[in-house]
Amino acid sequence: MSRLKRVLIILTTVVVVIGLALGGGALYLYSDADVSTVGTEFRTELAVPPPAKSTVTPNGTRRFELTMQAGQKEFRAGKQTPTWGFNGDFLGPTLRAKRGEKIEVKIKNTLGEASTVHWHGMHLPAKMDGGPHQMVAPGGTFSPRWTVNQPAATLWYHPHPHGTTERHVQRGLAGMFLLDDEKSARLALPRKYGVDDLPVIVQDVRFNGAKFDHGHQILRDTGFLGDRTMVNGTLDPYKLVGDELLRLRLLNASTARIYDFGFSDDRRFALIGTDGGLLEQPTGTDRIQLSPGERAEIVVRMKPGERTVLRSFPHSGYGDGWQGRFGGGDDSFDVLQLRAAKALRPSPQLPGELGTLEVPDGSDSVGERFFGLVTTGINGKKMKMDRIDETVVRGTAETWTVRNEHGTPHNFHVHDVQFRVLEVDGEEPPPELRGAKDTVFVPPFKTVKLAMRFEGPADPETPYMYHCHLLYHEDLGMMGQFVVVEKGRQAGKVRTPHSHSGH
Ligand code: C2O
Ligand code: CU
Ligand code: CU
Repeated sequence: MSRLKRVLIILTTVVVVIGLALGGGALYLYSDADVSTVGTEFRTELAVPPPAKSTVTPNGTRRFELTMQAGQKEFRAGKQTPTWGFNGDFLGPTLRAKRGEKIEVKIKNTLGEASTVHWHGMHLPAKMDGGPHQMVAPGGTFSPRWTVNQPAATLWYHPHPHGTTERHVQRGLAGMFLLDDEKSARLALPRKYGVDDLPVIVQDVRFNGAKFDHGHQILRDTGFLGDRTMVNGTLDPYKLVGDELLRLRLLNASTARIYDFGFSDDRRFALIGTDGGLLEQPTGTDRIQLSPGERAEIVVRMKPGERTVLRSFPHSGYGDGWQGRFGGGDDSFDVLQLRAAKALRPSPQLPGELGTLEVPDGSDSVGERFFGLVTTGINGKKMKMDRIDETVVRGTAETWTVRNEHGTPHNFHVHDVQFRVLEVDGEEPPPELRGAKDTVFVPPFKTVKLAMRFEGPADPETPYMYHCHLLYHEDLGMMGQFVVVEKGRQAGKVRTPHSHSGH
């Protein structure tokens, strides 16, 4: 054999071996990338966040107190995980108020760093919104107050400090804020809190020893994705059910994960509400997709003695195969097991008519705006605290067109308003997008058209936010600011964010 030939054979071998190693490595990463907890054993009874205590002042203001605090929680036997919570170690109590009520929440920050509390889905003055301009310094307090004026709904609260929201929410700062109104109070819907009307706060999580692992995977551009889920801070939870009808208030409080909820036996259920409140009529379905920040109220019928599992199924709508694999589309989770008692209390039939939609239908829109989404910013701009991106006129409705301009999944959330989804890619939206919404999934290369009305109050110097609610993206600057002004007025100069420290 000539020398040249020998050299060639050796070189070829080396190339083949390296190729096999790389290919094998890639295959390994790929096959390891999808996660499934289907078939998990449900060992722990579901925790239910306590109803928040409140007092009513002589002038009729309902007053709550929320303390942001560090703690630790034993998610798994013998392992204490460092956490943050409101009035406790992890998550927060469920606030509840009626339409028309005056509210005040005294927030106290006992953490070692500044944070905020934002009222996601709430219509309220920009100064009270708890966005990145209403920081609460360590040791400081802030007492936002407003009057509730919107329909019964499942809202939530969470921190919003610019650049660190993902971390603050992951550590446990989140809770529900339920609104009631006169009409909803008269409806024959399950309403025994924690019994047949259940908050279901879903978060994905990963542990590294005793601690949370919040690391990002390099092959993924959506942010943190966990390898298991918990509900209300309970891992592998089950819930004992004593009524024929069970209402689940689903909240995706995860930082990046998109869920496609259904039941393990593919049973149908009734969708009764979306982000901003009750639908006009219940809609039968077997799946409901929720991207981060979105909520849905569903009612499921149980038979005596049976068990079923709330499951998140794989979904192909997250983009190409790469996104499916690394963005979570291929993953499945057994989220919550329902265990029906041998004898169930009878529930009344679901009402045929539920709420009244108070979102505009686009016919009286006075303006149109376009928002192009990519991870590096909205409309080519990265969030800047002192730049107002959009100015809207108080009392007017507008149509906002939001387009995901690349292959990464995003969603779109607007503060202060609820909107109606007019179109998804030029077509009528599916039933689950026909209610009042404040957050909507915008899959790769898709376009959604939204109609919303800005009811003020006008404040040319204090902006509200719109942003992607995949919190890693939000933190990177996929966020913009709008102000509401009186007709003929202009946006002012953003007041420099200041920390509230003592009131
Ligand atoms: Cu749920 Cu801007 O927030
Ligand atoms: Cu919000
Ligand atoms: Cu995004």
